[in-house]
Amino acid sequence: MRESVLSNKEEYLNSLFANESENKKLSRQFAEELGLARISVSAPEAKLISLLVKLHGCRKFVEIGTLTGLSAQYIFESLPDGGELWTLEKDPAHGEKSAAVFANLDQSPKKIHLVMGDAREELEKLSALGPFDGVFIDGNKAAYMDYLLWAEKNVRRGGLILADNVFLSGSVWGDRSAQKFSDKQVRILQEVNQRLADPNLYEGVIVPTFEGLYVAIKK
Ligand SMILES: C[S@@+](CC[C@H](N)C(=O)[O-])C[C@H]1O[C@@H](n2cnc3c(N)ncnc32)[C@H](O)[C@@H]1O
Repeated sequence: MRESVLSNKEEYLNSLFANESENKKLSRQFAEELGLARISVSAPEAKLISLLVKLHGCRKFVEIGTLTGLSAQYIFESLPDGGELWTLEKDPAHGEKSAAVFANLDQSPKKIHLVMGDAREELEKLSALGPFDGVFIDGNKAAYMDYLLWAEKNVRRGGLILADNVFLSGSVWGDRSAQKFSDKQVRILQEVNQRLADPNLYEGVIVPTFEGLYVAIKK
């Protein structure tokens, strides 16, 4: 999730890393049209996610929260031939835009599955296709713990867990000036962060991007 005014640091990073393909620009344009450009992943953060997926050699990957298919494209391009990405979205308007974007991608050597519906229900059905090599959590904040517990069961040992917006605009350390999040959302993100920091369960760290990106390996 992004603020509309970019800092000098963000402008600089974008000048280096925001040279995106036409199809990624289309995802951004669709997000803009929906009035949701600020919740698309930034280009530098998307590059980091893409790099991690590649470094980890992920073949079977799950994304929760497609929006207009931007982060999905970054993940997809890092999968090897034969790789598969399942990306989950509940809003039909977002799904329609994502489907249009995915139709422009060459899906002969690898595949994107756009899964429409509430992620909590759809994840249960996806379990039959696991275990997965990694997950990117970027959906409904109040459901982050459910997503994480699903990942604990369905991502392989040593698999990659990524979760965006884990700072919740500073709410998790008590800065409530943004006033965007409910007490329930804040409590859930604090619990998720605490769980991901448990060395018995995960090896990980929060990368201090603008909104905080949790990067962890499941033990
Ligand atoms: C932050 S946006 C995802 C941004 C996207 N990953 C990107 O950077 O290109 C969150 C998305 O999650 C979707 N979402 C919210 N609640 C959901 C749910 N219960 N199940 C599935 N998707 C959900 C929203 O409709 C929205 O499109």
